[in-house]
Amino acid sequence: MSNDITKDAAYDAVAPDDFPAMMDVDRYGRRSTAFDKIISATHDHFWDPLDKKYIDYNQPFDLDTTPIMPLDQVLELHTPIADRLTEQQKIQFANDTTRWSLSSILHGEAGALALSASLCHILKDPGAQEYAANQTREEARHVTGFSKYIETRWGKPYPVGPTLGNLLTEMVLAPEVYKKIVGMQMLVEGLAMGAFASLYTHSNDPLLRHLCQLVMTDEAFHHKFGKIWADRTVPHLNEEERNRIEDWAATCFQTLLFNLGSPEQKKHIYAKYGLDWQEVQEIILKTRTDDDRRRAMSSSTNIFRVLIKTLLKGGIITERTRAFYAVYVDMEELKGEGDEMVGDAIAEKGIEYLKAVNFGQKVGNYVAAE
Ligand SMILES: [Fe+2]
Ligand SMILES: [Fe+2]
Repeated sequence: MSNDITKDAAYDAVAPDDFPAMMDVDRYGRRSTAFDKIISATHDHFWDPLDKKYIDYNQPFDLDTTPIMPLDQVLELHTPIADRLTEQQKIQFANDTTRWSLSSILHGEAGALALSASLCHILKDPGAQEYAANQTREEARHVTGFSKYIETRWGKPYPVGPTLGNLLTEMVLAPEVYKKIVGMQMLVEGLAMGAFASLYTHSNDPLLRHLCQLVMTDEAFHHKFGKIWADRTVPHLNEEERNRIEDWAATCFQTLLFNLGSPEQKKHIYAKYGLDWQEVQEIILKTRTDDDRRRAMSSSTNIFRVLIKTLLKGGIITERTRAFYAVYVDMEELKGEGDEMVGDAIAEKGIEYLKAVNFGQKVGNYVAAE
């Protein structure tokens, strides 16, 4: 039995080093049409991070006096740790935290680029392969876009946290189709949509808001690729396969939660403010009860809530792991919600804006990120 766990011919795969299988003459004619719409749509939302017509990085921002993300968005500042920082330090700490998050996003984009490229090596369906090549191209401009933003504001990104670094490496190198698609297309892409929606909604920096909206015009489609896979795969799984997928999803979820939530991963930032990460961890745990966590998670742009919803709607959460996720969100409430993905509305407006730039279509006085 194949380890790929694919149930639909559109996701049939070969080993990463089996290029000869790609030259099988019958393969070329076996192209599914499942992804054609997504592939064609790429021209509507074309953008170039190096062209001022789309985005101008020469917009100044005073990091010493203004937090890129409002202080109330910074977890640590909701705890007694805030009393140890001056007003100036709070702003600096908030901006350092944003630099950390955006660096994680940049490393995630690098992972998405390498992962989509790796799908080109294993997917046999020429349509699925073209989809993956197209996603690779879009991820490449995200890497350029976030690199430029970080360079403009801070010079250099922070190194990847060990947890996220290991997870991304595992996904990129995994030969199994399900690991790549559940890990990257459903979870990391879902997390990214949630993170971009929250940056877009709350940020004080118009440049960052605009960049996030442009990136979201692409990401909304990437997330759909994962959803199509789940729709065509999950209903046909046997119990053992379903368990394997469910466990892998829970492992990835836990790792992502840990990367973003664990003070250990960003201990170098705390050290700059004379804070010890272990003490920070204790204070956060003491201050935040499960109830607080659930309340924070109930916000619709909360990134982990978005992830759980993706898995739940994809049929990847059963009674086996339900209790694990129920610590974070109200599962019944989530189940009753529509399929609309967080950020879809922002992405749609962004696409309208890009159509206007690309084809001169009239969109009134619409501005993508005012
Ligand atoms: Fe991306
Ligand atoms: Fe993506």
